[in-house]
Amino acid sequence: MNREKVSQIAHANHPIKAPLDDGSVRRLLGHGLPRGDERVLDLGCGTGEWLLRALEARPGVRADGVDISADALDRARQAAADRGVEDRLAVHLAKAEDFVATEPYDLVLSVGAAHAFGGLLPTLAAARTHLAPGGRVLIGDGFWDREPSPEAIEMLGDFADLATTMDLVTEAGWTPVDGHVSTRRELDDYEWACWGSLAAWALDHPADPDSAEALATAATRRSEWLRGYRDTWGFLTLVLRRTAG
Ligand SMILES: C[S@@+](CC[C@H](N)C(=O)[O-])C[C@H]1O[C@@H](n2cnc3c(N)ncnc32)[C@H](O)[C@@H]1O
Repeated sequence: MNREKVSQIAHANHPIKAPLDDGSVRRLLGHGLPRGDERVLDLGCGTGEWLLRALEARPGVRADGVDISADALDRARQAAADRGVEDRLAVHLAKAEDFVATEPYDLVLSVGAAHAFGGLLPTLAAARTHLAPGGRVLIGDGFWDREPSPEAIEMLGDFADLATTMDLVTEAGWTPVDGHVSTRRELDDYEWACWGSLAAWALDHPADPDSAEALATAATRRSEWLRGYRDTWGFLTLVLRRTAG
C-alpha cells in the first residue's frame, strides 16, 4: 500500500495534516494575514488546506503552494476549484528547498514540513529568502514536552524543548507575534482521526487488496503513538516577524 494512499485515507477527516483544530488554524491565519490582500507561499503545502482556508476567507489573498507530492497537489487543485478559489491558487511540484519565486511574499507558511529543510531553523532561513519587507512567517513544528525515549527520537526526529525552541527562534532574529501550543485534545484528536479513518476504511473495504495492510498499519501507528511519543511530543505553531531588518 503506497504512502500516498495511506495519507489520503488517514487524513480524510482531518484535512489539516498537523495537530491543530479549525479554531486554532483560523486564529493563526488571522495573525498571519492581518490585511487580507497578502501574497502567500506555503512550503510543503500538501493538499493545500491552509491556503484554501486563507483564500476562502479573504478574497484579496493570492497563494502559491509547493510540494513534492503530485497526488497531493492534484487534490489541492481540485479542492480549489470546488471551493471557487482556483484563480488565486498556483501549485508547484518541486522540492520546497529548490523553489524559486519571482516576487517575495507577505506570508510564508510551512507547517509539518521542517524535516524537508533539516529542521526549524533552516526552514526559517529558507522562508526568509522569500519574505517581503515586513512580512510574516507561520511555521509549525514539533518540540519535546518531556524527555523523549530513544525510540521516540528515532520515530519523529530530534527536537528541542519548548523554551529552548523559542530561544533558538528569537536568537535567529525572529519575534513571535502569535503562537499556539497544540493541546492534548488537538494532539489526541489528530492521531485518532488518522488511525481511526485508516482502520475504518479497511473494515469498510474487506475485498480491497490493501485492506489487511491498512488495518495492520493503523494498529501499528496507533501503538507507536501510544507507546512511543504520546507523553513526550508536542507541536508548536508560530507567527513570526523579523525582529530587525
Ligand atoms: C505533514 S504534511 C503537512 C502538509 C500541510 N502543510 C498541512 O499542514 O496540512 C508534510 C508535507 O510536506 C511535503 N514534503 C516533504 N518533503 C518535501 C520537500 N522536500 N519539498 C516540498 N514538500 C515536501 C509532503 O509531501 C507533505 O505534503
